[in-house]
Amino acid sequence: MNAQNDIKQFIAQSAAEVERELKEALPVGWDVPQKLREAMMYSLEAGGKRLRPILVLVAAEAVRGEHEAWKTAIPVACAVEMIHTYSLIHDDLPAMDNDDFRRGKPTNHKVYGEGMAILAGDGLLTHAFYAVTQSALLGASPETALAITADLARLAGISGMVGGQAADLMGEQGITSIEQLEYIHLRKTSDLITFAVTAGARIGGANSGQLEALNEFACKLGHAFQVQDDILDLTGDTAKLGKPVQSDVEQNKVTYPYLIGLEESRALVAKLTEEAKAALARADLANPERLLAIADYLVSRDH
Ligand code: IPE
Ligand code: IPE
Ligand code: MG
Ligand code: MG
Ligand code: MG
Repeated sequence: MNAQNDIKQFIAQSAAEVERELKEALPVGWDVPQKLREAMMYSLEAGGKRLRPILVLVAAEAVRGEHEAWKTAIPVACAVEMIHTYSLIHDDLPAMDNDDFRRGKPTNHKVYGEGMAILAGDGLLTHAFYAVTQSALLGASPETALAITADLARLAGISGMVGGQAADLMGEQGITSIEQLEYIHLRKTSDLITFAVTAGARIGGANSGQLEALNEFACKLGHAFQVQDDILDLTGDTAKLGKPVQSDVEQNKVTYPYLIGLEESRALVAKLTEEAKAALARADLANPERLLAIADYLVSRDH
């Protein structure tokens, strides 16, 4: 119980630090249409767990063994949250999941209209790549910044998150198989979480064996995270989640509970988390405790 409280407190403090940085993420000197800036900041500042940026920071520290690693990792942490936030703005659009609430507030298109919501997403996506370049000014080597850029394009893009969202859009109840559903979950959710962990690890100076083990850790963790998201869509509480429940049911989405049932889905979250932790143990990190605690914490999350 104490360990749970410790990690909750750590996550809250780290999220606050990420939020301070996100506030400054759009350069004040840039000439940006006021409405566009406002729409981007509306969703970026709306809250959320900030899991992905925290994973960047914690992975960097876990590999290097020094908190100092955060300084270089911060721009990449902001970048992954920008990508994630853009994906949520687009995911909620009427043409996709058609949801009206996100992070406890009306969705971006409900406030700014669909056109501006699409552009706010485009703006966050583009600006994330600018943010990654800033890590090189704070101590990342050019080779590391380049590798992170390539990973981001791949894992957030057409063979990653965007590909997964496309497959999710085409998935149909009664037709999509468990193999296809696994592909959707790995691409639409695991890949960005994998980006977060491995980008942090690169900044921390991970060797190829550590990168491989952390890749597996994040892939399993991300898979478990999306299965839990599916479960919470059915069993969660709107006030806690900050987004509507039963959205998947309304959209006839193929989910794990739909295909294998709630109990089997819960068992799968536990199994994937154990596999993730086993991969983490192989990474031989200077300081793996926080990553382990986050993995344990996510199994029982209610939002
Ligand atoms: C929601 O992600 C979308 C998924 C990929 C499951 P989160 O549950 O991390 O959402 P926020 O960032 O906390 O709002
Ligand atoms: C979202 O999956 C995945 C991405 C945004 C990439 P969901 O559609 O299940 O996410 P929620 O439930 O709306 O947060
Ligand atoms: Mg969706
Ligand atoms: Mg959705
Ligand atoms: Mg969902």
